[in-house]
Order: sequence, then structure tokens, then C-alpha cells
Amino acid sequence: MKTGLYIHIPFCKQKCNYCDFASFAGRESFLENYLQALAKEAVSHKNRSVQTLYVGGGTPSLLSERQIDFLADIVKRNFDSVINFAESTFEANPESLTEDKLRSLRQAGFNRLSMGLQSFNEQELKTLGRVHTAQQFSTAYQAARKAGFTNINVDLIAGVPGQTLESFLSSLTHLLRLQPEHLSVYGLQIEPGTPFFERGIVCDQLLMRQMLEQTHDLLTQQGYHHYEISNFAKPGYEALHNTHYWDNGSYIGLGSAAASYWQGVRSQNTADITDYIQRIERGETPVVFSEQLTGQAKEGESLMLGLRKLDGVELTPRQEHWFGREIERHLQSGLLVREGKKVKLSREGLFLANEVFCSFVAPFDEV
Ligand SMILES: C[S@@+](CC[C@H](N)C(=O)[O-])C[C@H]1O[C@@H](n2cnc3c(N)ncnc32)[C@H](O)[C@@H]1O
Ligand code: SF4
Repeated sequence: MKTGLYIHIPFCKQKCNYCDFASFAGRESFLENYLQALAKEAVSHKNRSVQTLYVGGGTPSLLSERQIDFLADIVKRNFDSVINFAESTFEANPESLTEDKLRSLRQAGFNRLSMGLQSFNEQELKTLGRVHTAQQFSTAYQAARKAGFTNINVDLIAGVPGQTLESFLSSLTHLLRLQPEHLSVYGLQIEPGTPFFERGIVCDQLLMRQMLEQTHDLLTQQGYHHYEISNFAKPGYEALHNTHYWDNGSYIGLGSAAASYWQGVRSQNTADITDYIQRIERGETPVVFSEQLTGQAKEGESLMLGLRKLDGVELTPRQEHWFGREIERHLQSGLLVREGKKVKLSREGLFLANEVFCSFVAPFDEV
């Protein structure tokens, strides 16, 4: 059975104005103890066979070269050498990705980088609360190429407050000149608790849709494969780790807030960094939530994840049984289409995917 390994690094130099991920600024003094805790947690999953590795955050590129080596060693001692993974991604922010760190990452065996740019426009970067400039991104990107990374993803955000269609497309075309193998383009979500939410910022949904539609058109013209709602890849560079997740595959998550899905049980570690460290030091489990997915909930989850992929899903008889009526309704309204044995999001459905997905989460209508 294929399994992915995710390691969470919950530290950031500054918290961005839109971000509600489990990451914290000003907590770097816990980093050493956090890594020691990761080393202990990894032992409890020792020797499980894993094929893809994703080190995400937060900002993993805050780690020093020595800490990158330490992390790679944790992986090697408990699973396999990073170099043997089919795909091993390290998430990096432009301001902290130095040549020395890039060298350590390559030496450890990482073969994919995911870089957060968000925008090439300086004003938009400030609005987002990013701590880097566009120039810092370009320098880090070129350094990554020079260090030998031939598989790079770059994240962009569409719908930044104050952003026009022109400035968004200018970021996108600027980025395309660099020819990254993979792009993730996210429509801005205003998440409760973030500074954007507190300021009452509202997204212009129509403008954002135009941006995302033009992203699809431009990137597909340029030979990128639009394979998941927010993800585009040059053929053969589709992310293996993430695709496995959309295929409802199993994964092990290490670190604070990390989620796991193993033998039908979904679980999540405590998101609090000190609580995580203390639990591990006391020999207790870091898991604070777990549930066994069964029956309709399990099939609904699998449908919701699978439909994120643009080539859709082949419905199982159980899915037909529980969700046939809802699927028919979305086919009638044009948000889903049938193609051969598969059902997939239509072009319209791509931008209204949540309308479709809410049919597959509890509470369900009576069958
Ligand atoms: C897990 S985050 C961390 C990546 C990395 N720390 C960085 O900031 O570059 C991955 C990506 O999610 C996207 N993202 C985070 N919060 C978002 C939001 N509220 N709306 C849209 N995209 C968001 C950003 O593009 C970000 O690069
Ligand atoms: S977007 Fe990235 S850098 Fe910004 S707070 Fe979230 S995880 Fe940290």
C-alpha cells in the first residue's frame, strides 16, 4: 500500500495577513526542542514503508543547514534515505532560502522545491504581509536552479486586495518566463481569525473568477496540465505526494498539527507547539483527535477528494448508492459532467466546487 510522509515545521518569521495554517511567528526558540520531539515521534512509526515525503509549514526553510541535516537523518533512521523517495518536497520561502541551505537540501536528497511567491508586485506583497521582495524570490529561484533543482513549484494567490486583473496576469506571465515545472494558483480565502478577516476584507468573487479562468487558459496554452483545481504541471511533473492524498491514500503526519490517515483512521496532532513538545517528552501521544471513517462518510470524503482532480472519478457502487441522487442533481445543473465511466467537475464546476463538495459531507440528506 502506498503511503506518504508529511513533516510539519510550524515556524514563520512573520505571520501573513491571510494565513490560518498552524504556523507561528516569534517561536524560533522552541525549534531545537521541536526537532528533538520530531525525532522521538518518528520512532513510533519506524519502518513503515513510505514512498513520498513532503516537509511543509510554516516555513521549513527557516531551518539551518545543520537542522536540515538533522531532519534528513530522522527520516533516514526511521524510514529511508531521502534520496530513495519517489518524490521528496521541501517548502521554502524566498527570504530564507540561501545557497548553503540549497546545497544541504540537495545533499540530503530532496528532489523537489515548493516556493511561496504569491505575487510579483511589491505593493501586493506588502498587503499580504509577506516579508520578502519579488527580487528576493527571483534570486532564490535562480539559486535553486543552480543548486540542481529541476522540479520546482511556485505558489501564487489570485484576488489579493487591491489587485487588478492586469497586475495578476503580469505576475503570472513574469513567473512563466522562469518556466517552473509546477504552479499552484489559489484564489484568496478570507479565513476567520486572520488580519484580513478582522479588517472585514471581502473578495471580489467575479474578478477572482476571471483571474482563475485566464490562469487556466494561459497555462494550458503554455503546455501545463491543469490536473487539480489549483494545480498545474508540465506533463510528468504532477505532484505525486498530493495526488496520492486526492486519491484518498494513506499518509503519516509528524509534528504539531500534522494530520494522518492510516487504516481508515483519520487523526490529528495537537497544533500547540509547546503542548506537542511536552507530550512527546512525557512519552504521551501527540494525537488530540481521531475518528474512524466508515460507510457514507468514508465514501463522501473519498468522492470529495477525488473530484478535486480534473479527470474526475469512477463512481463505486456504494458511492452511486449514497450519492447518486446528488450527483444527478449536479449533472443536471451543469456543475458535473460525465465522461466515459467517469464523473468530473465541469468548467463551471471548477469555480463552484464547494457547491458540489458540500453534498458529500455530513449531515447527509436521507437516501
Ligand atoms: C502551507 S502554505 C505555506 C507556504 C510557505 N510558508 C509560504 O508562505 O510560501 C502554502 C500556500 O498556501 C497558500 N495559502 C495560504 N493561505 C491562503 C489563503 N488564505 N488563501 C489562499 N491561499 C492561501 C499560499 O499560496 C501558500 O504559499
Ligand atoms: S503563508 Fe507561509 S509564511 Fe505566511 S504565515 Fe502562512 S505558512 Fe507562514
